[in-house]
Amino acid sequence: MGLTRVPGLLFGGDYNPEQWPEEVWQEDVRLMAEAGVTMVTVAVFSWSRLEPAPGVYDFGWLDRVLDMLHAHGVAADLATATATPPPWLVRRHPEIRPVDAAGTRLEFGSRQGYCPSSPVFRAATVRLARALAERYRDHPALALWHVGNEYADHTAECFCEESARDFRRWLQERHRTLDGLNSAWGTSCWGQHYTDWTQVEPPRKAPGPVNPTQLLDWRRFSSDALLACFEAEREVLKEVTPDVPVTTNFMSVLRDLDYWKWAAAEDLVSDDAYPDPADPRAHVRAALSYDLMRSLKRQPWLLLESAPSAVSWRAVNVPKDPGVMRLHSLQALAHGSDGVMFFQWRQARYGPEKFHSAMLPHGGTRTRQWRETVTLGADVRRLAEVAGTTTEADVALLLDWDSWWGLEAPESMPSDRLRLHELLLGWYAPLHARGIAVDLAPPDRDLSSYRLVIAPNLYLCTPGQAANLAAFPGRLLVGPFSGVVDAADHVHDGGAPGPLRDLLGVRVEECRPIPDGGTQEVVTVDGTRLLARTWSEWLTAEDAEVLARYRGGPLDGRPAVTRRGAATYLSFLPEDPAPLLDEALAAAGITGVTGAGLPEGVEACRRGPYLFLLNHGTEPAVVPLPARTEPVTALPTAPPTALLTDLLTGRPLPVGPVTVAPRDAVVLKP
Ligand code: GAL
Repeated sequence: MGLTRVPGLLFGGDYNPEQWPEEVWQEDVRLMAEAGVTMVTVAVFSWSRLEPAPGVYDFGWLDRVLDMLHAHGVAADLATATATPPPWLVRRHPEIRPVDAAGTRLEFGSRQGYCPSSPVFRAATVRLARALAERYRDHPALALWHVGNEYADHTAECFCEESARDFRRWLQERHRTLDGLNSAWGTSCWGQHYTDWTQVEPPRKAPGPVNPTQLLDWRRFSSDALLACFEAEREVLKEVTPDVPVTTNFMSVLRDLDYWKWAAAEDLVSDDAYPDPADPRAHVRAALSYDLMRSLKRQPWLLLESAPSAVSWRAVNVPKDPGVMRLHSLQALAHGSDGVMFFQWRQARYGPEKFHSAMLPHGGTRTRQWRETVTLGADVRRLAEVAGTTTEADVALLLDWDSWWGLEAPESMPSDRLRLHELLLGWYAPLHARGIAVDLAPPDRDLSSYRLVIAPNLYLCTPGQAANLAAFPGRLLVGPFSGVVDAADHVHDGGAPGPLRDLLGVRVEECRPIPDGGTQEVVTVDGTRLLARTWSEWLTAEDAEVLARYRGGPLDGRPAVTRRGAATYLSFLPEDPAPLLDEALAAAGITGVTGAGLPEGVEACRRGPYLFLLNHGTEPAVVPLPARTEPVTALPTAPPTALLTDLLTGRPLPVGPVTVAPRDAVVLKP
């Protein structure tokens, strides 16, 4: 049994039957069976059809849809339908529409148009969720609850009066007193001292830079306000259907929501991933997202939406070349997804997404797209035994949302070129290229299962987090501009690296951001040349060995990389971190899947006993697998000439290098 009640890997997509006459539904289920669809997501935007008037429900059509799906062996990821409040609710309560930072109240006519703090909206969603749960509690098609949709999509924050009240409540809980708030927000600066709670407002558009701590608290609050919407619905679902798992679809590496907190509130993590087919490095970004999803609960997750081919929301929507949909889907499975789901099943004929690709395109079954859908369905079936298996990683990249929010505060930082997602990718990409499994982890989690922990940046670092890092027994690599501020975004006494000073044995005297296009040379003690871009620091090594020094310019001869015990500090952003990374990997005794490197564009992931080799390139690739891979040595009785089987083809593979065709994959099983 996988994540839901459906065995094996899930295969399917968003299904919007309300956009089609009922005659089409029969064709839908027939073709779903042909493609091997096992689950579809239904009713995501159906509120106005399910509750056409206040308290008046029309479940008839959904009854028929669910019955029909069940009769054809298709399970339902049933949405609570609360992503778009219906027109009657919006017109009765115009105040539930969100207000942007400039004070404009947004009109009905799109989706996700609600104020997360609106009690009217929340109460209405809970009523609908209860009605759905009570109606379908015993329906055999119900496999998974899908609450809302992509929280923070379109509406990540609302600046209305109701949100202001909710923000004040949230602030009172966090800071207790107005003095507490004044001190945390540093209101002595720029004359912002508050004398009454009613004076405190959301960080609306102001004449100049907004107080950064106000903004940091606002981001925390906005994530929590949306989470409260999710939790209110989840509570009802758990009360009525305690055994049905609950999820909401995440949006990959997203700044707006603290997914550590969110993941803890759901039964399974699901994600919507839309790598851009026009980006040749899209698979690396996707891999990072998938590893984040796998790490959030440290269990299999579910790719709940992806594009069969083109999306409709980029400026230029490039379709996926033949084979790429399959390859991207297999990639998600390699990184721990227990299924492959798409947006959407049947391509729409109207609305903003009529040009968004679908499993079944406008052209019907006589299309390349449909043939690839059917092929992929068969592949997913062949991989059924992969469901439920997990990945062990030796390396963790630290990610903390508070720190991310602090780092990216507008108009007040030494440089706005430090973007956390890019900093993560800077380390993730070379690890990925070496076939090394990576987890993401929050800085306060028990890290003892890892051998190498990398903090690309920990701008905001609390004493508790620093203590956790100090207790970590493995190799630690801390990137620049870390340990700068505390939880209130106040600079630590004595400056960076603040609470990490004892652990790292260094002091940062000065930040020296590098102008765009500029570089600063760095040379290691053994003579390796590195290039700093974007960032450098005037660093003093107080109780640390110097591993590399700056060369040239005002920093000439000063420490650039230091080590104290097992903890390395990097005071610059390396253009290519490979030499430093390889040193850390060797010291931690970590090698990739092949023991050597991987050909360009090839990805190698272990998941349980399986080894996925994915060739994202357009040329055949020879992967130099060692004669015996780890799981094989665990099976000494396996025949010597055909030790591995490709699950996708059923073909045995001889020991040694494996050739992977362009845009193809093999899934090796010992
Ligand atoms: C997602 C959304 C879907 C659909 C899809 C198109 O953001 O959840 O409903 O709009 O994008 O790519």
